[in-house]
Formats: sequence, structure tokens, C-alpha cells
Amino acid sequence: MKENDEWYTPKEIIESLGVFDLDPATSIEAYNQNQSAKKIFTAKGNGLKQEWKGRIWLNPPYSNPLIQQFLTKMAEHNNGIALVFAKIEAKWFHDIVLTHATAIKFLYNRIRFYKPDGTQGMQPRNGSMLVAYGRNNAEILMNNKIKGKFLFL
Ligand SMILES: C[S@@+](CC[C@H](N)C(=O)[O-])C[C@H]1O[C@@H](n2cnc3c(N)ncnc32)[C@H](O)[C@@H]1O
Repeated sequence: MKENDEWYTPKEIIESLGVFDLDPATSIEAYNQNQSAKKIFTAKGNGLKQEWKGRIWLNPPYSNPLIQQFLTKMAEHNNGIALVFAKIEAKWFHDIVLTHATAIKFLYNRIRFYKPDGTQGMQPRNGSMLVAYGRNNAEILMNNKIKGKFLFL
């Protein structure tokens, strides 16, 4: 478990985007905080090697190559919403996200993620984006109240 991957999504962000069937990249500590999906995979079970079914919530590990691998699998699955840093110079953004996703919302406010002990971190240096895969998820993201600029790709 890499410590810098352990930053968890505020529960209200996930809840505002509807019910998810699977979070393939999480931990028990994260699940206790945000109940991200009906089913989860953790590093121990390696979500990359499992079968993904239904609507996916994905806030992947940020380290390479895990982020590329998770975003590639998300693109192939094409049903769900991902939350990643708005790193528009990243190779994964150009080669994986922009070429496969259905829509993006660049968030106006930076997200203060949570740590495994349940405390909230400081404001991060980077902003984030929500990425939708599939028309249904794009429409949910478009109509969602989280402030940001929504774009169909
Ligand atoms: C940025 S955190 C996000 C957690 C959760 N998805 C959320 O939205 O709060 C990424 C999580 O992926 C986990 N992880 C790392 N490698 C993994 C793997 N191969 N399979 C499943 N989970 C993994 C990390 O331990 C970490 O808890």
C-alpha cells in the first residue's frame, strides 16, 4: 500500500453522482468513510485483475503505472465516473482520457480529500476533474450540482 495513494473522496461527492455498483480501487478505511459502491476491490485483491461489472466509481491510485492501468480498464469498460487530478499535461490525460471518455467536468473548487484516519487534508495544489464514460453517466455529470465546466468530448 503506497501512502500517497491513500486519499479518499468526500462521501457527498460520490453520493451526488448516484449509486455505483463497483469501486475497483479502494481500501477498507476508504469504504468505511464513503461507502463508494455496492462492491469494492482493494489492493490486496488487485482491482485490475478482477472482472468489472455495472456502473463504476473510480478514484484511482495516483502513482504510475497504476493510474494509466486503471484509466485504460475504465475506458474499455465504458460505464462509470472517474475522479482524477486535472493534469492536462499528463500522458494519460491525452492518450487515455481524451481519446475514450464521453465527457469531462473541470471542477471549480479544489477537493479536500480525506486521510485513512478520517481527518481531512489541506487544500491540494491541483484541481480535479470528473470524467464520465457512457452517455448516461455524462448526463448525470452534466446535471450534477458540483460547480465546474462540463464538456462533451
Ligand atoms: C486515491 S484512493 C481512492 C479510494 C476510493 N476509491 C475513494 O474514492 O475514496 C486509491 C485507492 O486504491 C487502492 N489501490 C491501490 N492499488 C490497487 C489495486 N491494484 N487494486 C485495488 N485498489 C488499489 C489504494 O490502496 C487506495 O485506497
